[in-house]
Amino acid sequence: MLKAILGEQLGKPTKTIAGWLVSLFFKTRNVVLEENAVRLCNIQPDDTVLEVGFGPGVGLSEAAKYLTGPKGKLYGIDYSEYMYKMASRNLHSLLEAGRLCLFHGSVERIPLSDSTVDKVYHCNCYYFWPDLRTGSREIHRVMKPGAVMVSTLYLESIMSCASKGILNSKKWEPEPYMAALRDTGFIDVRMETRQHKGKEFQAIFATAIK
Ligand SMILES: C[S@@+](CC[C@H](N)C(=O)[O-])C[C@H]1O[C@@H](n2cnc3c(N)ncnc32)[C@H](O)[C@@H]1O
Repeated sequence: MLKAILGEQLGKPTKTIAGWLVSLFFKTRNVVLEENAVRLCNIQPDDTVLEVGFGPGVGLSEAAKYLTGPKGKLYGIDYSEYMYKMASRNLHSLLEAGRLCLFHGSVERIPLSDSTVDKVYHCNCYYFWPDLRTGSREIHRVMKPGAVMVSTLYLESIMSCASKGILNSKKWEPEPYMAALRDTGFIDVRMETRQHKGKEFQAIFATAIK
């Protein structure tokens, strides 16, 4: 019962005590993943950047530091209304300054035009998508040719969650996600293990071709 609640809240936090606790966990434990997803994207000052599944907004606030050019644009999309509202509060100054645009919606329907995004990143997210190929195809649609996507995760923690029944589908496994990326038009798909601030994490890289 508790495991099922935790699994549901990790995938789509709601405005409940469990959802609030999960959001605190994102803000502390996942900072290294968010910072590194942003860093590994190699964001340039005038890029257009998208985060999928932004949670409380830690990664968006990091990405904004790199987008210092007059053409720089930052977008985020998240499925959870609670996370959308929490990130909107946490990032109100970026929103008010017109430096950020947030969408409440699913990766399967991103309200951006074709071939407009230079960099995409997401952390701990693909395992909750309804369908890996549909999500990958939709991200690919909005990316420019040659644009790069980085996904970060703690593989060991994810495996542990899966073995405890907190994640109950097989969608957390990196291989099906990487296969979905290749099937939907990404090249140079690879997973690397990296270290930062004494923590080991995995980064999955992919480049869009048209
Ligand atoms: C485990 S949380 C990770 C949050 C944050 N990226 C982090 O690492 O702390 C997963 C996030 O992805 C969002 N999410 C899940 N499925 C999604 C989908 N289909 N489209 C967009 N966002 C989704 C959830 O609402 C949640 O905010």
